[in-house]
Formats: sequence, structure tokens, C-alpha cells
Amino acid sequence: MAVTLMDLPFAEDALEPVISRETIQYHYGKHHKGYVDNTNALIKGTELDDEVPLVDIVKNSDGVLFNNAAQAYNHNFYWMCLTPDPMPPSPKMVELIERDFGSFESFKEQFLNAAATLFGSGWAWLELDVNEKLVITQRSNGDTPIIYHHTPLLTMDVWEHAYYIDYRNDRKKYLESLWELIDWKFVASNIIDYYHDLTEPCRENSELCDYIEMLQHENEVTT
Ligand SMILES: [Fe+2]
Repeated sequence: MAVTLMDLPFAEDALEPVISRETIQYHYGKHHKGYVDNTNALIKGTELDDEVPLVDIVKNSDGVLFNNAAQAYNHNFYWMCLTPDPMPPSPKMVELIERDFGSFESFKEQFLNAAATLFGSGWAWLELDVNEKLVITQRSNGDTPIIYHHTPLLTMDVWEHAYYIDYRNDRKKYLESLWELIDWKFVASNIIDYYHDLTEPCRENSELCDYIEMLQHENEVTT
């Protein structure tokens, strides 16, 4: 089997009261598992059914396979963005956000607004674009930053299955509650990983080089 359902990085009830055990059981145990199962059924017997990483299946598919594989990927990412032991973003993380959004409060307002106003089902993302700028995007259905060569940093799932059990139709309240569970160390780690994956000439020219050492230090001291 090429794709496996990830283990949750926390217990099913660890995010209560923001996200109930029942929501996790449906969202992770039914919806997320369903995308993984569908992906595996669709790649069975194809060249993608041979230990091909999920990111490569996403990048090399379209139609129903893309929808399911991208949703499997997006959900993997979503769970990693949440923690039952949240800490505020580190000073350097805040500085990087201020570089591109003016202030942290402005970023929070723009991000939550993007998530709240996305029409229909989809995802709000904080991404690092090809110019190494932080950008907020609204992506519908299974759309995902990795097919645009963007690096995902943070996401919030705004499909109704993410919040309807706990919040009914109040997406805004779900988002404001979820904001308190963001794992900012994971957000920073995605920037650090992006930087270290660059080839040497690109790393030397990267505008992120002024941030990486301190981001890394801050992530290590709070481990
Ligand atoms: Fe979802």
C-alpha cells in the first residue's frame, strides 16, 4: 500500500473543548481515512502504486485521484498545525510575519477573514511563495499550495465536516477557537525545512537567511 493514514500527533480528546473527540473520530477516522483509502484504491495497479510519496502523487495527478490525494495531504498537514500545548509564536516568527503583513494582529485578522469568507468547502493557508514572501490564500476543495511550488506553513480546514458537530454553522467561532491551538513551532519548522532544502547558491541569495538561525534556535530552546 503506497499511502498510509498518519497517526494523529495527539490523543482523540486532546483538543477538547475546541475540537471534540467526536469531531476527531469523524474528521480523522472517517473523512481523512476515506481520502487515504480512495487514493489507494485509485492508484492500485498503476505506476503510482509503488512507494511513491503522497506529495508526488498529488503533483502528478488530476481529477478524482488529485482530489483524494490532495485531501489526504492537506489533512496530514492540518493535524500537524494543531497542538494541545500551544505556545505563542517566537519573536523571530513574529518578525517575519510583520515583514509581510505589517503587524501580527493584521496578519491574524487577514488569515481568519480569508478562512471565514472562503465560499463553500476548502482551506485557508499561510504559504511561502516563490519569492519567499508569506502569503495568505483561499483554496477551494482539495486545492493545495504544493502544486504551485509554494511551501505550506499553516492551514485551517473550513470544510463543514471540520466544525459542524461542535459549532454547527458558526465557522467564525470555530476559527477563532482553533487559532488558540496553532502549533507555531510547526509553522517555523516548515520555513526552516524549506531553507535547508535549498541548493547552496539559492541559500546564499535567500532573503530568509537573516531569520533562519534565530528561528532554529528559538524552536530548539522550546523543545
Ligand atoms: Fe477536513
